[in-house]
Amino acid sequence: MADRLEMVLSMVSHSKREQNDLNPATNPRRTPALPKRLRWRALLGCAASVVVIAGHVHPAFGNPTQVTNLLQPLSQPAQEIKELSLLVLAICSTIFLIVVGLLVYAIVRFRHRPGDEASEPPQIYGSNQIETAWTVLPILIVFVLILVTSRTIADIQNRKALPGAVHATVVGHQWWWEIRYPELGIVTANELHVPASDGSRRQPAFLKLQSADVAHSFWVPQLAGKTDVIPGRENSMWFEPTQPGTYLGNCAEYCGMQHARMLIRVIVHPPGEFERWVAEQKRAAAEEPSAQAGRQVFFANTCVNCHTIRGTSAHGAFGPDLTHLMSRETLASGATPNTPETLRAWVRDPQKLKVGCLMPNMQMTDPEVDQIVSYLKTLK
Ligand code: CUA
Repeated sequence: MADRLEMVLSMVSHSKREQNDLNPATNPRRTPALPKRLRWRALLGCAASVVVIAGHVHPAFGNPTQVTNLLQPLSQPAQEIKELSLLVLAICSTIFLIVVGLLVYAIVRFRHRPGDEASEPPQIYGSNQIETAWTVLPILIVFVLILVTSRTIADIQNRKALPGAVHATVVGHQWWWEIRYPELGIVTANELHVPASDGSRRQPAFLKLQSADVAHSFWVPQLAGKTDVIPGRENSMWFEPTQPGTYLGNCAEYCGMQHARMLIRVIVHPPGEFERWVAEQKRAAAEEPSAQAGRQVFFANTCVNCHTIRGTSAHGAFGPDLTHLMSRETLASGATPNTPETLRAWVRDPQKLKVGCLMPNMQMTDPEVDQIVSYLKTLK
């Protein structure tokens, strides 16, 4: 058997003439090798790219310890997907190691030796057993991969909502996320709040995904796989985090100029705290007497055509709901933290913070901007 294998490998390796063409001693036209220094740099560059691609995607700003790591799922179904990927990786790595091992063996065993010039390698037909084996085995391996993958996909897609599940509708817009909780009567933007599940109380989140314009894709790597958000179609997904915290994600389908600043935050509340957030969001918008002047400027401008502030005459649906704007951590779909300074810069000229975004520069005077910002700051 070993002799057979050696014969087949020698048959697969280069003929004598090809070996001579590749030999720098006999072929002066061969491209010179990269200088050693450059080779090291190229190698280091590749290694760095692999480390970055391996899942360390940094958010646009914020706490540097909050790194979104694809390989550290903290929820179903991301955990199931990771286990499947590791199985596929293990099978493929084994095949890779066997192929590379045989290749290296053939290269070393049948390398050019002094005195080989005069003789041709033995000309042989091959081996029926080996050829049958390397046809049947890959077919079996591919079948195993297909079956395991379909089982995982079916298991994830057919999951039924439990009685305690939280339901939300997420609508992709150029370039922000509208988030509605139809059962709770809440509308917010860019920050999806869900409860954490624990042993005694399971509260998975079931999302319906819609688009108001073009194709987007909803992806929070540590919670679940990516799901496309397609105009004229409703997709769905679910996840069940058990660890409270803030999970970062982003739109994963190129959707226009500010696609890169269409970030998502999923805020997972410890048991009991989600209900408190819901109660706060259900309150009517604040009406502080001190912000009366700013309120008047806001309602005298076209702001009301695009934004809703619940309980007022502002019913616009084109931009984010501002009823509890100041309860959000970020502005412009995660493009910048939500602070009084960035809020002012945003109202002054949104195009400076997010070029091409659909909110125009309203050409307001500085006192008008100050008044509107002082009103917005009360919308807690
Ligand atoms: Cu939305 Cu990319």
